Amino acid sequence: MKHLIDIKDLSTDEIDELITVAKDIIANKEKYSKKCERKKIATLFYEPSTRTRLSFEAAMMELGGNVLGFSSANSSSAAKGESVADTVRVIGGYADIIAMRHPKEGAPLVAAMKSEVPIINAGDGGHNHPTQTLTDLLTIQCEKHRLNDLKIGICGDLKFGRTVHSLITAMSRYKNITFVLISPKELKIPDYVRKDILEKNNIEYVETKDMEEYMQDLDILYMTRVQKERFFNEDDYIRLKDYYILNKEKLEKAKDDLCIMHPLPRVNEISTEVDDDKRACYFKQAKYGKYIRMALILKLLNIK
Ligand code: NCD
Repeated sequence: MKHLIDIKDLSTDEIDELITVAKDIIANKEKYSKKCERKKIATLFYEPSTRTRLSFEAAMMELGGNVLGFSSANSSSAAKGESVADTVRVIGGYADIIAMRHPKEGAPLVAAMKSEVPIINAGDGGHNHPTQTLTDLLTIQCEKHRLNDLKIGICGDLKFGRTVHSLITAMSRYKNITFVLISPKELKIPDYVRKDILEKNNIEYVETKDMEEYMQDLDILYMTRVQKERFFNEDDYIRLKDYYILNKEKLEKAKDDLCIMHPLPRVNEISTEVDDDKRACYFKQAKYGKYIRMALILKLLNIK
């Protein structure tokens, strides 16, 4: 049995295979409509979610399976003090696979150590979000037709943004990737990402506060939301929340084939006037999330 806790749990070949399957699903939906008949996914969400939870559920339904779960800690026995380890032991008797989101870093890993069914980390605190990264990789592959030779700008909350940490980890394996890390000094990437991923793999990167400085060079601009729920101090959040707002004017120098991404939800960091720009990929990106999760469910359940 295999779990997906960290994007590093997948080899590059396995990621390529997931992308290939997801593309095949997009092209041949009917072929997959009964693959998970009589299977169930449990979505255990101790933190808010729209896309991640619903796309897991839609993914299982489109594979012919069923879904059960909860969407807030308050509506589960966590409110009575049950541990994550006990909860997954029990749910393993009701479902074939579990997707879990939790505010504590490492909770899905603890769950995986006790679980009798595969566990998927659907976001653990400010740490990791491997299935968003799979979504991002499928988006990049479909929109840019490559995962090598890319200059990737990542803008916003690089400190608490779990999607950022997993994306940098994944992209660092591909050839000729350079990062432009755009954030205020308070929201720079954590040291472990800098040392264990970027420096260890000799990845070229620059850090800047200025979102326009490298705009003309970027192939991808990955915008992120300032992660309000991770701040210790509300004043800091208020001071930093509107630090970056991408609008048409800021895109003037950008390449014609720039791909603008965002894991969503968006607050103010992308002005709605950008939504009609042909370079805006974020709503398409959310759609790709369902297909890559279908591919992932098949893989973890060992269904060909
Ligand atoms: C992200 C998350 O939960 O980390 N959302 C998502 O899963 N698409 C990003 C965010 O909440 O800002």
